[in-house]
Amino acid sequence: MHHPNVIPRIGKRFLSILDLDPEQLDACLGLAARMKRARAAGVPHERPLVGRHFALLFEKPSLRTRSTFQIAVRELGGDVIEPPADVAMGGRETIVDVARNLERWVFGAIVRTYAQARLQAFADAAPRLAVVNALTNEEHPCQALADCQTLQERWGSLAGRTVTFVGDGNNVARSLAQAAVMLGAHVRIASPKGYELPAVACSEIARRARFGGSLDLTNDPIAGVGNAVAIYTDVWASMGQESEAAARHEVFAPFQVNSALMSRAAPGALFMHCLPAHRGDEVTDEVIDSSVSVVFDQSENRLHAQKALLALMG
Ligand code: CP
Ligand code: NVA
Repeated sequence: MHHPNVIPRIGKRFLSILDLDPEQLDACLGLAARMKRARAAGVPHERPLVGRHFALLFEKPSLRTRSTFQIAVRELGGDVIEPPADVAMGGRETIVDVARNLERWVFGAIVRTYAQARLQAFADAAPRLAVVNALTNEEHPCQALADCQTLQERWGSLAGRTVTFVGDGNNVARSLAQAAVMLGAHVRIASPKGYELPAVACSEIARRARFGGSLDLTNDPIAGVGNAVAIYTDVWASMGQESEAAARHEVFAPFQVNSALMSRAAPGALFMHCLPAHRGDEVTDEVIDSSVSVVFDQSENRLHAQKALLALMG
């Protein structure tokens, strides 16, 4: 049990939402909200990263994650280095050796890569390095922090609220479910057959639920959105799955989030998307541009949530 007046710190690893205990998740989201208010009011906050560098290592494209980490580190007083792709992640030397070099120079590394196991191997090679998952094939924990911040801004508490993810049982769905059940939400994931969140991920998530939170999977998008107060979707083919895009387009068509599907959710239900969106595929313009869409709040909150994360790490 953490003392109520002491903000619980996060360790040197943020590879997954599951690296956080509930008190750490609450602390991170609370600090994110305070940092957002301070920034809007122009009130200076602490600069715990003065004298610290972070390496940004991205094996896949990024607008939001890269930009918000650059700003986050600098607003906290630190600086970033961005080793070019041709030397960063294992083409020229092993990722284990890259990690061991970086450990001698920088405080932390923010890594976007393919398999979670590759990120784990990188982190294992450099125990003194703070390591942040900036998206893997399996998880996107920084996104989930911003998503939960966005939901808490609307409702205060997520306890007892139904949040439905419609689409691929992917990295974004997994991290969202991990975080949201820890905050007491009922998470539903509606996916086509064969594209569900893996069973092992589901049992891990169910074990983390608090305040009556739960996880349910369905193959029926209409039943999935019933009573939901937020509908979340993501691209049908993630980065690295480009060769499957045409086949997935057929399978996922009934899972498009359009006005007809939104009308089956609770009245006023929010629309969420991690972005980038493929407009006309997983979501229509009408929905993503509607008054219930909070996609740019999510994008803004990437900055605040990651500032809080970095301020509490190490
Ligand atoms: N949502 C998200 O992670 O966006 P980027 O891929 O642009 O970083
Ligand atoms: N599921 C998507 C998320 C992009 C932010 C991908 O992995 O490409």
